[in-house]
Amino acid sequence: MSDATSQAGTAAPFGDESAPPIGLHGLLWSALAVAVMIAAIVSEIPWFLNFVHVMAGILWTGIDLFMGFVVGPILKVVSLDTRRAIISRLMPRMLFLMPTLAIVTGTSGWYLAKLLGFLDLAYPQFWWVVAALTIIVLLTIQGIGVLLPTNLRVYFELRKPHPDGGRIGGWMRKYVIVTALQGTMQIAMIVIMARFVTGL
Ligand code: HEM
Repeated sequence: MSDATSQAGTAAPFGDESAPPIGLHGLLWSALAVAVMIAAIVSEIPWFLNFVHVMAGILWTGIDLFMGFVVGPILKVVSLDTRRAIISRLMPRMLFLMPTLAIVTGTSGWYLAKLLGFLDLAYPQFWWVVAALTIIVLLTIQGIGVLLPTNLRVYFELRKPHPDGGRIGGWMRKYVIVTALQGTMQIAMIVIMARFVTGL
């Protein structure tokens, strides 16, 4: 039986053992993704840059929607121990995954827009570019200003010998609500992208 399963059935206090340390191999995957993005930007090959941008964009959007509308509601109804076991393993992974997807999507989007001439458009068409840039700035502020610190707060609370379940619950509610909000803004972004592709 795994650690998580055995603890879910007992009243064992949740301490260091149940919140694994942040694995630095996540950083390697992030570095690899950023390296591929840099290669795509430097190469100026449209399909390559498009691939990197679309892949990161749909993963980012899909994971946000999945977290907000599927995982979030499930976490609300499972037992406290199960919730802690899942969150303590999920948060360290989200810590690297989501900022990386955000950085790669936004940066590759900017260079793709530059490469394809979207930055030279005149108004009113350029408003679509302004809208995309505004949404990406809002998403980034929310991600770095709210989701990242909340992620870290939950993780470090779980690492304490006696985590405060009430505080974690409050933070998680905020996390899931903001994640769902991000997913919704990203759908708006995909509408803008669909306009980009089919002609402004
Ligand atoms: C949440 C952020 C974003 C997501 C999820 C996203 C997603 C996508 C997707 C899915 C496509 C392909 C659309 C299709 O083939 O129908 C696309 C294309 C594109 N995106 Fe984004 N994008 C994002 C942000 C940005 C930003 C900030 C820019 C820069 C202004 C940008 C510039 C572009 C460009 C230039 C294309 C290609 C248009 C063409 O092929 O004519 N994207 N994006």
